[in-house]
Amino acid sequence: MSSRRRTLLKVIVLGDSGVGKTSLMNQYVHKKFSQQYKATIGADFVTKELIIDDRHVTLQVWDTAGQERFQSLGVAFYRGADCCVLVYDVNVTRSFDNLNNWHEEFLKQANPTDPERFPFIMLGNKIDIDGGNSRVVSEKKAMEWCASKGNIPYFETSAKEDYNVDDAFVSVAKTALANE
Ligand code: GTP
Ligand code: MG
Repeated sequence: MSSRRRTLLKVIVLGDSGVGKTSLMNQYVHKKFSQQYKATIGADFVTKELIIDDRHVTLQVWDTAGQERFQSLGVAFYRGADCCVLVYDVNVTRSFDNLNNWHEEFLKQANPTDPERFPFIMLGNKIDIDGGNSRVVSEKKAMEWCASKGNIPYFETSAKEDYNVDDAFVSVAKTALANE
C-alpha cells in the first residue's frame, strides 16, 4: 500500500574474518550459499523489504570486512546505525573472545546517544559443522556474554543450511524498530 509509512533501518554486521557474515547475508537475501571463501573488501550493503507489525520496513544491511587490512570504514559509516549484528563462529574460540572488541569498537565509532540501550543482536554461526561436535563455545557461555552486555538477543545459525537465518534478521528489524 503506497500510503504505508516506510522505515529505513541501517544495520551493520561485524565480526572476525571467516565467521560467515557475507554467507549469512547471501542466504538471507538471495537464498544462496557458497563453500568458497572470498574476503569482503571495504563494505557493501544489500536491502530487504519486510512487513513488521503492519509497518513497511526496508532493512539496509551492511556487510563489513573482518580482515583488518580490508577495513577502511570511517566514523561516518557507523553513524546513524539502527542495529549492530555481532557474528562469531561457534567452532572458533578467538572469534567469540573478539566480540568484546567488536562491541566496544562499534560503540566508540557509532557513538549512539544511549549506548546502554543501543540494539545489538548476536549470532553464533556454523552450528552445522560436524553435527555440532566441533563447537568450542557453548550456548550457555554465549548467552552469559549477551546477558552481561544488557540482554542482547542471541541466535544460533547456519548460513549453509539456512537455519535460523530468517528469524535472526526479523529479530534485527524488530529490535531496531523498538528502539526508534
Ligand atoms: P570476511 O569477509 O573475511 O570478514 O569473512 P566473512 O565473515 O564474510 O565469512 P564468509 O561468509 O566469507 O564465510 C567464510 C567461510 O565459511 C566460507 O568458506 C563459507 O562457505 C563458510 N561458511 C559460512 N557460513 C557457514 C556455515 O553456516 N556453515 C558452514 N559449514 N560454513 C560456513
Ligand atoms: Mg565477508
